[in-house]
Amino acid sequence: MTKLKEFMTYQHILIPTYTSVVEVIMDVVLTRHHDVLAALHAPEQFSNNVSSHLNVPNGMDGTEHRTYRALIEPFFSAAVLTQFQPKLQVVIDGLFDSVATHNLVEIAGTIGHQFALRAQCAFMGWPVTVQQRLTEWIAAQKAASVAQDRPALRALAAEFSELVIEQLENARRGNSAPQSITTKLTQLRLNGEPLSDDYLVSMIRNWTVGELGTIAAAASSIIEFLAATPVVQKQLRMAPEHIDHAIDEVLRIAAPLPGNRRRTKCPVTLGEQHIDSDTMVRIDWRAANRDPQVFEQPEQFQWHRDPSLNLLYGAGIHVCPGKPLAQLELRLFTEALLARFAHIE
Ligand code: HEM
Repeated sequence: MTKLKEFMTYQHILIPTYTSVVEVIMDVVLTRHHDVLAALHAPEQFSNNVSSHLNVPNGMDGTEHRTYRALIEPFFSAAVLTQFQPKLQVVIDGLFDSVATHNLVEIAGTIGHQFALRAQCAFMGWPVTVQQRLTEWIAAQKAASVAQDRPALRALAAEFSELVIEQLENARRGNSAPQSITTKLTQLRLNGEPLSDDYLVSMIRNWTVGELGTIAAAASSIIEFLAATPVVQKQLRMAPEHIDHAIDEVLRIAAPLPGNRRRTKCPVTLGEQHIDSDTMVRIDWRAANRDPQVFEQPEQFQWHRDPSLNLLYGAGIHVCPGKPLAQLELRLFTEALLARFAHIE
């Protein structure tokens, strides 16, 4: 019984979604690396269909998930990222130009969020005016989430859809760069038919505002780690080719994404733990990536760890398709940070 308590935590949490703050009673939280891996690799037992809202492809299972997953993967290919890299560099240079004259920089507010917002808008091929509208939208969304103001959240969800549909319409009329991601999304076909705006908005929501918090948190954690660990800072200045590897280890410790959900499709046994059918399960990435059974001295940065054990980008069929984009963004960000600031303290 004591053992069960170690990994069966009952929680009551508030999850802000694009339309509302949903109160969810979480039955089970998976915190052990072994259990999380087992759940990720058993999609026939653990469904991703955990919300009544359309979530493409995160909230899908089986054939439907495979179909939409295949549609989105090419958007993160090496060829697409090679084209995006110079644009991203301009975004990062502009961001650091705007803070370079300050001696003291407030990390999360000034750099982390601005970096995430500008990078994701640049990836979509959206103009600066949209960036400004999104900044206001995010502030309003945050206030409404904190206040649990459901009517305001519903209105904000509609406003976000309108903003995205405007961008899609611009692209369809040829007013967007022909090679932009938004233009390419409007050209997607499934069984010869274009995707509906609802599906495109859901995908874009995930790629833009859905990822802002994760990327902003990641960027902030990287800065904090470099400031607190001058030895590694020096090593990376001397050998920048190890930046990707270092970032993955930093973010293993400081999880930028706290968790994801599943719902059991049948009774499941994980080790000694029995989970009933139709139970909401939360995957706790932070805990799994700090499991002392897998990571010796889990809170410590270590160069020699096996990268295949790191669950930062998930595993199994829902493993993060945006990983190459996230890695490119965080690498260029870290390179610029080290090049611009001789000391990070
Ligand atoms: C540091 C940045 C990021 C981290 C740590 C991260 C992490 C993750 C994780 C752990 C999952 C698996 C979720 C699950 O199993 O339920 C996931 C899924 C996903 N990620 Fe990321 N992600 C990042 C950036 C991005 C970016 C930049 C994009 C796209 C622009 C993206 C798009 C997605 C999508 C679409 C899924 C769902 C995939 C599916 O259900 O098949 N991610 N991400």
